[in-house]
Amino acid sequence: MIAFSEVSFNITASLDFVKTFTNMMIKLSWRNRAFYDKMKEVSSDADAAQKAMTSSHTMRTFFPQPLARGEAPGKIILFGEHAVVYGRPAIAAPVQQVRARAEIWPADACVVDAVDLNRRIFVARARRNDPLALIVRLVCERLHRPLPRWRIRVTSEIPPAAGLGSGAAISTAVVRAMLAGFDEELDNAEVSALVYEVEKIYHGAPSGIDNTVVAYEQPVWFVRGQPPRPFAVARPLHWLIADTGVASPTRIAVGDVRRAWEQDPARFEMLFDAAGDIARQARTAIEKGDVAALGLLMDANQRLLAEMGVSSPELERLMRAARDAGALGAKLSGAGRGGNLIALVHEDQVERVQQALLRAGAVRVIATIVR
Ligand code: PMV
Repeated sequence: MIAFSEVSFNITASLDFVKTFTNMMIKLSWRNRAFYDKMKEVSSDADAAQKAMTSSHTMRTFFPQPLARGEAPGKIILFGEHAVVYGRPAIAAPVQQVRARAEIWPADACVVDAVDLNRRIFVARARRNDPLALIVRLVCERLHRPLPRWRIRVTSEIPPAAGLGSGAAISTAVVRAMLAGFDEELDNAEVSALVYEVEKIYHGAPSGIDNTVVAYEQPVWFVRGQPPRPFAVARPLHWLIADTGVASPTRIAVGDVRRAWEQDPARFEMLFDAAGDIARQARTAIEKGDVAALGLLMDANQRLLAEMGVSSPELERLMRAARDAGALGAKLSGAGRGGNLIALVHEDQVERVQQALLRAGAVRVIATIVR
């Protein structure tokens, strides 16, 4: 009779043999050798590089499907950016046409592969303020789990630093994938709260609007520090989102507005109040389906944003082109200075305004419907 310990020894020995043999085969391949060397260089740790390589190549053979997936949309701010940081209301909506995705694969260690950035992050050894490592740690802490042996593969179609909520969407996709991988659930408010912690790294002192709209995936009426309020959209609203191609990190624009507010608080409080009033009127117009009023309110909001110092010649040129081609209104969306603008259009004008924006130099135009 074979003792239990012998069986387990034999299984362990066989697994060790398979692992050693597989690793040997991997090392023999030139491409994998190059990969190994690169990982060694990046991680400056031969053992970690070996593990990562084993994960990426052998694990995929055994597991053709990821263990779990998560996704999140991009977002636009329809009304009230910047003023929202100072407690005024704002309106935002998800953009389903561009998404961030995360997949969970088995691995020997907890690593995040930021595919678009060509970065691999070993979570246990990452900097404290590395956004991707932080969101993984926060989820584990919240669920009282140790770091899992997962390779979390992250991809995103959302351009970074463009006002479309790329950072919030990536974090949210990672949270959702990890929840699915652990077979756990958190409600939208909790997902949003975890993502908010990471947003602080990108933004400094974010209002929380990005993580909220991305986690809830629906149009929201947002006031800082309060739960978001969904509201009725009386009729589908057609928006074009045009990218100036100018990267503009949110942190810089938000910091500049803060300094300007500190220098002239009375003037900036008036601008923020006016933006808050516009957001209130816009909500009524959306609830009534009054698109003509909404277009005018966008133009008015844009004038305030220009006075706050966050417009740019590229944004102004594209907005002019959109209005000349028949848009009902146009404004920047997000932090400004570059990034994206939004134009409200009648359904039958979408193509015409889109072409005008491209001719005027937009690097990409996305058509989306808010309903
Ligand atoms: O991340 P962005 O570029 O969409 O900007 C967020 C909106 C701001 O109001 C400018 C900042 C904030 O935290 O609300």
